[in-house]
Amino acid sequence: MNKNILWHNAHITKELRVKRTGQKPCVLWFTGLSGSGKSTIANALEELLYHNQNFTYLLDGDNIRHGLNADLGFDANARVENIRRIGEVAKLFVESGQIVLTAFISPFASDREVVRALLEEGEFIEIFIDTALEVCESRDPKGLYKKARAGDIKEFTGIDSPYETPLQPELHITGDASIEATCAQILNYLRSNSYIK
Ligand code: ADX
Repeated sequence: MNKNILWHNAHITKELRVKRTGQKPCVLWFTGLSGSGKSTIANALEELLYHNQNFTYLLDGDNIRHGLNADLGFDANARVENIRRIGEVAKLFVESGQIVLTAFISPFASDREVVRALLEEGEFIEIFIDTALEVCESRDPKGLYKKARAGDIKEFTGIDSPYETPLQPELHITGDASIEATCAQILNYLRSNSYIK
């Protein structure tokens, strides 16, 4: 880091923003295989939070890879950098007082822990969408598993690139739960831990 660049403390702090928004900012970090339902659940949940008067922002793997992370591929180094940048962006949104929802495969446990460590205690809520590979593959919404099986896509998570299962996620969602039940479970967690009213 350049030693000629100094940190400037903002006058309007996270604490002041929390007072105004009435919510405790945090990151809802969805992790799971491609096709596990991360984006679908995150979108449905964001809608419910919106109608609950919360301030939210959704960062989604497929979209971020069109812009901010358009220069990154899927080899191990690129995935590490992908998650590092998302962690930094998510932290900025948390500073701004938002509840951030992120939907990235984020296959490596160490990367998820890097993001957890960037944030304050209680600000990182890891939500494991535990849908079996066979189910994800049978859904194959983008036809990518088929391509990966045919060898047309290399280093596809679950096929020829690993997914490291979260060992102690704050929330463990089994793949056969309905979207409604899953959202209710997450909202219940957020209410009972005073993130939202
Ligand atoms: S991550 O592994 O770096 O966290 P990210 O969530 O950003 O992945 O992007 C995953 C999405 O990119 C998948 O849902 C899929 O649509 C697409 N994709 C393209 N190539 C791959 C690949 N080799 N492995 C996994 N997903 C891929």
